[in-house]
Amino acid sequence: MLHNHFPLEVSHLVKTYALKNGVRVEAVRDVSFYMKPGEVFGLLGPNGAGKTSIISIITTLEKATSGSARVFGEDVDSNPYFTKKQMGVVHQEIVNTGFFTVNEILKFQSGYYGIRNNNERIDYLLEKLGLKDHREKNVKQLSGGMRRRLMIAKALVHSPKVLLLDEPTAGVDVHLRESLWQFVTELKSEGISILLTTHYLEEAEKLCERVGIMNKGKIVFMGSTQEAIAQYSTKKVYIEFNSGEAAVYTETASAGLVEILAHHKIQFTDIKNIKIEEGRLEEAFSKMVNT
Ligand SMILES: Nc1ncnc2c1ncn2[C@@H]1O[C@H](COP(=O)(O)OP(=O)(O)O)[C@@H](O)[C@H]1O
Ligand SMILES: [Mg+2]
Repeated sequence: MLHNHFPLEVSHLVKTYALKNGVRVEAVRDVSFYMKPGEVFGLLGPNGAGKTSIISIITTLEKATSGSARVFGEDVDSNPYFTKKQMGVVHQEIVNTGFFTVNEILKFQSGYYGIRNNNERIDYLLEKLGLKDHREKNVKQLSGGMRRRLMIAKALVHSPKVLLLDEPTAGVDVHLRESLWQFVTELKSEGISILLTTHYLEEAEKLCERVGIMNKGKIVFMGSTQEAIAQYSTKKVYIEFNSGEAAVYTETASAGLVEILAHHKIQFTDIKNIKIEEGRLEEAFSKMVNT
């Protein structure tokens, strides 16, 4: 059964919150997407786009107004025991879980999934996430970055096949951010499918082979990261001529060099130096959400 379905498939998801004053917030408006096995899929969008609402529905913290979420073909509401076992989730908000130690928290979490002796897995995760020397500390004694890593370890104790990371690097320093990217790459190579929400476009460009870009509750782009860049961004071509003159041309990211030179009636033999700055996801994203 596991092999015939996508690790995650969300279809026609709608989430409308009703506020106390009767105002309705249409947080998610008919969103559909799927994740392929072993890929890092980026769910991107500015604050308030609806990303966390989608994660909350997938993990059954919130109920969808309509539409469905399926994990390996099983509906999250009809079969939560199965779907939760397949998934690990790191929520955007870090929960401050009182006075238990890192070690205890990971043992409890293993027990929650019915895994009795999980020491090997726990040791592995503590090592990978740089928490080995902090295992006897309680949460209050951890820095923000350590708490974030603990949440990731906690999400992985039961060796899930799907990992949901909601803004895992928000408020995290550059060093930790890079080591988390490294870790995500390692998990991917182990075959885990990863859903990453982020508003760091550099991160998405580095890690995600496909992206769904959201704005105001709707998907405005769905496809490969390279397609997004090629369709919606520009590249810059810097040319230094033998004459000593220089020029910079801004071109669509998909344009080839031969085509660009022909268009500007530039002869190869007149060029002394050429530098190409490829298009970036950040620019494509800005165009799509008009920020
Ligand atoms: N529990 C809630 N009650 C009412 N409105 C909410 C609730 N959670 C989120 N929202 C609203 O839904 C919209 C989408 O929020 P969210 O899913 O958190 O977006 P994102 O994660 O992309 O920043 C926002 O307008 C937000 O204020
Ligand atoms: Mg969010």
